[in-house]
Amino acid sequence: MKRNGQLISEERKYLVLNVQQAKHIVKDWLSEIQLANVIKLGLPEVDDRYHCWRVPLCGKNGSKMGEVVIDAYSTEIIESKTTKPEILTARLLKQDETKIIETRQNKKKYILSNLRNTVGLGDSAQLLDEMPIESVDLIFTSPPYFNARPEYSEYEEYEEYLFKMRQIIRRCHRVLTEGRFFVMNISPVLLRRASRNESSRRIAVPFDMHRIFIEEGYDFIDDIIWLKPEGAGWATGRGRRFAADRNPLQYKAVPVTEYVLVYRKHSDLLIDWFIRNHPDRNTVEASKISDGYEKTNIWKINPSTSSKHPAAFPIALAEKVLRYYSFKGDVVLDPFAGSGTVGVAASELERRFVLFDNNPEYIDIIRKEIISWKNVNLNTVMWINCESVKPVCKQKALFEVTK
Ligand SMILES: C[S@@+](CC[C@H](N)C(=O)[O-])C[C@H]1O[C@@H](n2cnc3c(N)ncnc32)[C@H](O)[C@@H]1O
Repeated sequence: MKRNGQLISEERKYLVLNVQQAKHIVKDWLSEIQLANVIKLGLPEVDDRYHCWRVPLCGKNGSKMGEVVIDAYSTEIIESKTTKPEILTARLLKQDETKIIETRQNKKKYILSNLRNTVGLGDSAQLLDEMPIESVDLIFTSPPYFNARPEYSEYEEYEEYLFKMRQIIRRCHRVLTEGRFFVMNISPVLLRRASRNESSRRIAVPFDMHRIFIEEGYDFIDDIIWLKPEGAGWATGRGRRFAADRNPLQYKAVPVTEYVLVYRKHSDLLIDWFIRNHPDRNTVEASKISDGYEKTNIWKINPSTSSKHPAAFPIALAEKVLRYYSFKGDVVLDPFAGSGTVGVAASELERRFVLFDNNPEYIDIIRKEIISWKNVNLNTVMWINCESVKPVCKQKALFEVTK
């Protein structure tokens, strides 16, 4: 397809520029899985909403059997969105596909991660690359705000910010176990007006983030609304002008909610599989959630009053997410850990934690406070790019006189 005389793929600076290149990539893949002689290719189409090429796979009689999806920027085949080779084989042989999925579920082994409690200083994109594949059971985080609070925003352009978030969400996908959850606390941001003649701008970050999650191989599960008391919203300044003047068109709702978006790394394993196959029945039993849990997608929680971090989320929020989406003993990752709220909740609830932040001041807060976290053996915590914290021994003073 051409726009202003230029191919869309050229305009977008894709690596896969045309139909021939897309077909070439798929033919190589079909040869690798030994299906090149039995499958024909349909006409590849570029999908510039998701920056990919879609190549239909057809049987000898021309009927559609599946699809290969290629990342247009990197030329890689996106496995999570491509029809699985065993499903293609089943379709060619007219076998029952559900049996194939069942066999995979029966063959798959539940592997317990052997990661230790970890605290790392640095850019998450780099630290995540050092982690073993599928070594994390849950990710819960709130990302840095785009320019909402200039004291900790480092992005000039919104696209640049989204690109960085995509890099981290993609790397999280690699370290997260198939079928487990990535929960993100996020809300729209308000860009204050630069002068009296301009209006302020609100950016719906959660919706752009949603698209990134879907493109990176996660399935959407839930949009939970974290509801704060009314007073919490007035601090943003939104709605004050209307409260005073009451003119139509000036109306602006005072924001008292944030999203807690729940995604799951794409998998054909059912949730039940994780409960049935967990190697420790006692742990499954001990992780059950008692009465009084949140029944709807509106969770009323007071905001954090922590002065340690300007954007800390409340411990009550972290505790709910960890209880609902992980077993005891699981590894919970927060790639934007700030003051370490996820670590506090994880240790309290007997989960392991992996906390990364690129700001030394926040890592220092964690280093100071970790001593008071429950169930943490300081001798076994792994410290990356920062000094370890030694346990305080109850030692007698050198010249203490024993009575
Ligand atoms: C919204 S705050 C998280 C606050 C945290 N939930 C808490 O309760 O304290 C986002 C954090 O991400 C960190 N951050 C921003 N970019 C990062 C990056 N590329 N790698 C690691 N941390 C980053 C910031 O330093 C900030 O502490």
